Amino acid sequence: MNYYLGKTIYITGGSSGIGLAAAVLLSSYGANIVVFARNKEKLEKALAQIEASKKSASQRFASVSLDVSDNRAVKKAMAKTVGEFGAPDMLINSAGVAYCNDFEHTSFEKFDEEIKIDLYGVWNVCEALVPVMKAKGAGHIVNISSLAGLVGVYGYTAYSAAKFGVIGFSESLRGELKPHGINVSILCPPDTDTPQLHEENKTKPAETKAISGNAGLYQPDYVARVMLKYALKKKPIIIPGLDGKFTHIMKRLFPWLVEAVMDGAIKKVRKQEAKK
Ligand SMILES: NC(=O)c1ccc[n+]([C@@H]2O[C@H](COP(=O)([O-])OP(=O)(O)OC[C@H]3O[C@@H](n4cnc5c(N)ncnc54)[C@H](OP(=O)(O)O)[C@@H]3O)[C@@H](O)[C@H]2O)c1
Repeated sequence: MNYYLGKTIYITGGSSGIGLAAAVLLSSYGANIVVFARNKEKLEKALAQIEASKKSASQRFASVSLDVSDNRAVKKAMAKTVGEFGAPDMLINSAGVAYCNDFEHTSFEKFDEEIKIDLYGVWNVCEALVPVMKAKGAGHIVNISSLAGLVGVYGYTAYSAAKFGVIGFSESLRGELKPHGINVSILCPPDTDTPQLHEENKTKPAETKAISGNAGLYQPDYVARVMLKYALKKKPIIIPGLDGKFTHIMKRLFPWLVEAVMDGAIKKVRKQEAKK
């Protein structure tokens, strides 16, 4: 992880979960870090945690309160941050929200929020930073999607719409930025023990639990470690853990089988509920 020593890393969603875990690790590797999120109190707490892991006194840290869904605000905040820290060597787009429920219990407002934060948010931040990263001539972008961005799963109509979008966007961008020395990777985490997962579980239908319950639950520190390692290896899609890799391969080779397994789980839940 010597690469990260003295490098400047921007992390959206760096005040919690996977983004925070990455910031803490990067701090211990000797990087300068700027974290972006909306809630100022959470940002302050996160910054103290990130600074406490630093390797040397010369490292620089900052937090910026920002809503990534606001295109104008993102441009303004990023221009100011670049003025203070310089263009990032790595940008990690981790900011996101997840809503899980049956389609007919998912309001337009929830869908709108998902798309604006999880998809437009990634676009907005890349739009603001790609020109300065290109001018630097080297760097990495990691956009966080999800396993639900590779496989459409019951209950994730809004979330998957955004996360499939992140993958399409990132794959297209990868080809455009490669000639400029910038690598684009996509992280597709499995279920990870973060505040987002706890929030999402509040409305998660039994059918979704039955489908995703077969895969493991991972810690944010593990997911962040895998991300930071394989982003440097320029892996286009990074999937931490064996369950997720297996699901991805099966979906590509035998989509009908993955659908049959998911349909079977849904049928089982329906049968159990009918007996109640
Ligand atoms: N946890 C999982 O199981 C899982 C699985 C697959 C993919 N993911 C993806 O991984 C990423 C990180 O998720 P996590 O589980 O680490 O979630 P988390 O712990 O809830 O952290 C989400 C972060 O994003 C920030 N954020 C949310 N909306 C924002 C906005 N509009 N503008 C700026 N920042 C915003 C949050 O801070 P504020 O609320 O203060 O803004 C927070 O810092 C997300 O993209 C998520 O979809 C997570």
